[in-house]
Amino acid sequence: MSQTVTMDKIVAFCKRRGFVYQSSEIYGGIRSSYDYGPLGVEMKRNVKEEWWRRTVHMRDDVVGLDAAIIMHPRVWEASGHVGGFNDMLVESRTSGRRYRADHLIEDATELDAEGMSAEEMTRIIQEDERIKDPVDGGRSFAPVRPFNLMFETYTGPVKAPENVVYLRPETAQGIFVNFKNVMQTSRVKVPFGIAQQGKSFRNEITPGNFIFRTREFEQMEMEFFVEPGTDEEWHEYWLKERWNWYMNLGLKAENLRSYEHPKEKLSHYSKRTVDLEYNFPFRGWSELEGIANRTDYDLKQHAAFSGENLEYFDQATNNRYFPYVIEPAAGPDRIMLAFLVDAYTEEVVNGEERTVLKLHPRLAPTKAAVFPLSKKEPVSTVAKQLYDDLKGDYRVFYDDSGSIGRRYRRQDEAGTPFCVTVDFDTMEDKQVTIRDRDTMEQERIPIQAVRERLHNLISG
Ligand code: GAP
Repeated sequence: MSQTVTMDKIVAFCKRRGFVYQSSEIYGGIRSSYDYGPLGVEMKRNVKEEWWRRTVHMRDDVVGLDAAIIMHPRVWEASGHVGGFNDMLVESRTSGRRYRADHLIEDATELDAEGMSAEEMTRIIQEDERIKDPVDGGRSFAPVRPFNLMFETYTGPVKAPENVVYLRPETAQGIFVNFKNVMQTSRVKVPFGIAQQGKSFRNEITPGNFIFRTREFEQMEMEFFVEPGTDEEWHEYWLKERWNWYMNLGLKAENLRSYEHPKEKLSHYSKRTVDLEYNFPFRGWSELEGIANRTDYDLKQHAAFSGENLEYFDQATNNRYFPYVIEPAAGPDRIMLAFLVDAYTEEVVNGEERTVLKLHPRLAPTKAAVFPLSKKEPVSTVAKQLYDDLKGDYRVFYDDSGSIGRRYRRQDEAGTPFCVTVDFDTMEDKQVTIRDRDTMEQERIPIQAVRERLHNLISG
């Protein structure tokens, strides 16, 4: 990573190259909403696809699920979200701005605000002179109060309390409430997992840092059900698996670390949680995913609230029990930002500056570009034919405008790992040049061999 990667630079780059735009920009934008452009949507799909491939397709003990975003409201009572999915909110009387009380306290003092009650926070904010409104320096605050992060809406035409529903704040609960369905309709046996990807919504008080924290975001979660007593071992196993996923996709090891949550700060459902954190140049070590041992908390809660028996029956031992759950829970938006930052490189080669996105080929939005050296026949026809042959396999880009050097630079910035040039010699020797994005080395190979070569380079 170049030393000069700032958030502003990444945001500008993402816009310029069509990775991420501010949502509703022509109306002045809306805070904390972003749209993924032509390259961004490809890259995020690749992140999700790689997660699904490794977590579901390459295993025989995990199945997939796609549950609804709007679920029965009792789900969120059972899960504890209605009562407890809160951030502590404080309003400044001078600027009228609202802040997360824990952030105000922790930014100005050496105190750790996690787990503090609203009353305790109110007292500290009112007494400690160092705590000021970050906007105007004011020192007059309303009492701290819990603020529920779930988005509420209504089903049907009547906005009555009995019609309140929520946009899911995590995908996990869709998995727990389908535990019995999956058990009964597929041949899974503990230990096994159910994986899901999709949108989640949280009315964050202070979203920010571009796509790192938004109110609408995606999650990739897998609940892995195990026999109690084997949970600690399985937790270790998933910590390694998830670490290796990032390494296999080329994230720099020095930018990834594990963070063990202290026992006294664990969520109510967790026996142990370890985060995988990325060292963002603009915000330091920050969570990409959490890997939690959720015990049998969720299944027991849903069994109690729904009246359904959600125990597992082990036919081999004739035992009934509530499985424990190991949950790797990740966010593709954040992960994409980490991979982008990790890959973004400004370098000088042979006296020339270039910006290059050194993404793993599996994550690169465009896998290959085809360049005809000339727009004219027969070079263009041969190049077009090659492009048509390749484009069914993955996203390929055809570019016949500008010098070859400029075309390379455009693809370097877009992260395209391979450029294939069809030139005049191709007409004679039936060979083309493949150029590697990172080494910039060029190799001449038969045009017939391009498809297989690219396949090996990309999936290797
Ligand atoms: N089911 C457990 C759970 O939801 P979490 O740590 O709250 O755990 C998991 O969320 C992941 O979802 C986070 O590590 C992060 O990658 C992503 N995530 C959570 N809130 C987010 C937000 N507001 N914006 C973007 N990603 C978010």
